[in-house]
Amino acid sequence: MLTIGVDIGGTKVAAGVVDEQGAILERVQQPTPSHSPTAVEDAVVEVVRRLRRRHEVVAVGIGAAGWVDTDQATVRFSPHLAWRNEPIRDRLGERLDLPLVVDNDANAAAWAEYRFGAGRESSVMICITLGTGIGGAVVLNGELFRGRYGMAGEFGHMGVVPGGHWCPCGNRGCWEQYSSGNALERDARQLAEARSPQAHALLAAVGSPDRITGLDVSAAAMAGDPMCVELISDVGHWLGLGLANLAAAFDPDLFVVGGGVSENGALLLDPAQRAFDRTLTGRGFRPSATLALAELGSAAGLIGAADLARQSIEQPPGRG
Ligand code: BGC
Ligand code: NA
Ligand code: ZN
Repeated sequence: MLTIGVDIGGTKVAAGVVDEQGAILERVQQPTPSHSPTAVEDAVVEVVRRLRRRHEVVAVGIGAAGWVDTDQATVRFSPHLAWRNEPIRDRLGERLDLPLVVDNDANAAAWAEYRFGAGRESSVMICITLGTGIGGAVVLNGELFRGRYGMAGEFGHMGVVPGGHWCPCGNRGCWEQYSSGNALERDARQLAEARSPQAHALLAAVGSPDRITGLDVSAAAMAGDPMCVELISDVGHWLGLGLANLAAAFDPDLFVVGGGVSENGALLLDPAQRAFDRTLTGRGFRPSATLALAELGSAAGLIGAADLARQSIEQPPGRG
């Protein structure tokens, strides 16, 4: 039995046909059209249509970069997309003509890591995805913890710097302003605009400050560019501080770090581990959670969304 998972993020819509073991049979991807909810819907319909040409599927799961209500039908709000009280399950349900499940994108990624990836043995797992923003999710004793109103795990919008950078959620100083692909991009552009000698190589490679993306920074860091290595390390440092706070609140056994920025591997995780070890409350007198990189990479969201869709067919909500 095959299902389709669609991961709608701030920069890309990634979709794939997934089997019971979490393996992807075919995958497609396109940039997220950010200007209107209808354009995003069209993109989803299009990728699902393409995938259905060659595969018999029984359901579709959507992981959406937004705050999904308890009814799992409506995206109440999204900082990086134009969704405001958007009834996406009904809208897409009508157009796709397949059973449809909607969840938050980070919840979907966490679910995939728990089922098939780095989180298999965990009983209190927190998953953080570093992409455009920070996605968060909690898997507690084998179940996603969604909170009373569906919006648990919005860790990216915890305030970490009073009066800090403005965030598209409406507040200042949110964690995701310091530890995400957008943070990388902003800092690299500022260094390039300030004509920092450190930014010379990156600027020469990309052309102009406003064309630098988080991906460019990651690619340059992996090739050894010192400024970009430092920028990834800054993001890692902020990551570790935030994880220490989450450890104080949740006492997890495992943090799984995924999303595009996690592809920097040790360049990101080592500074995060150092900051975490130096900040964890009660350190030296408590067991410490493990920090691990996601195993499913950037496919986690779509794999998890597909698995949640399969699960809802096998055990419909309320009868599980
Ligand atoms: C949003 C989350 C989302 C995350 C990752 C955050 O800014 O508030 O809902 O999961 O970005 O896409
Ligand atoms: Na979440
Ligand atoms: Zn915010």
